[in-house]
Amino acid sequence: MTSKRVLVAYGTKHGATAGIAAQIGATLREDGLDAVVVPADDVDDVRGYDAVVLGGALYAGHWSRKAKRCAERNAHYLQHRPVWLFSSGPLDHSAEERDIAPVRAVAQQMERLGARQHVTFGGSITENTPGLAAKMLARAGKAGDYREPDRIRTWAHHISAELTGPQ
Ligand SMILES: Cc1cc2nc3c(=O)[nH]c(=O)nc-3n(C[C@H](O)[C@H](O)[C@H](O)COP(=O)(O)O)c2cc1C
Repeated sequence: MTSKRVLVAYGTKHGATAGIAAQIGATLREDGLDAVVVPADDVDDVRGYDAVVLGGALYAGHWSRKAKRCAERNAHYLQHRPVWLFSSGPLDHSAEERDIAPVRAVAQQMERLGARQHVTFGGSITENTPGLAAKMLARAGKAGDYREPDRIRTWAHHISAELTGPQ
């Protein structure tokens, strides 16, 4: 039996969300799935995939425009395959302490696409993240990597189990 093809797409500004997507892709491959990881802007056609995981960074309470546009552009075919969404954001431990609900645009995409689940992972900025706002956050002591590799891996295993388990 050929393994299922899974697209992991991400909308990022500074790379933290790309890192989460890469980890999800690697875990899915460990589990025997044929997973590819692609920037959301590059996704023009999802028909070659059995399932899609789409994530975006959060900025000022909004999900990545790249992720949102990817969802909108491909909505028709996403509605016909299993879809999981994620957000990457909080620069503290809140995402591991409790479930953080999707922001409004993501909740709307969940509904529209019939997505199976959404999860918010912690985010990351460093002293070198470009932009004035990032510099101010870093100066306020917010720099750090809160991406929680164990939680990301566990979530990816859960996706694998849903895709490979008894239908
Ligand atoms: C200017 C700015 C605004 C941010 N706004 C939010 C926010 O509203 N909610 C949130 O959870 N995280 C927020 N963050 C944290 C980012 O979502 C986090 O750093 C994320 O991992 C960045 O992903 P990226 O590197 O893929 O762009 C913000 C970060 C910056 C620099």
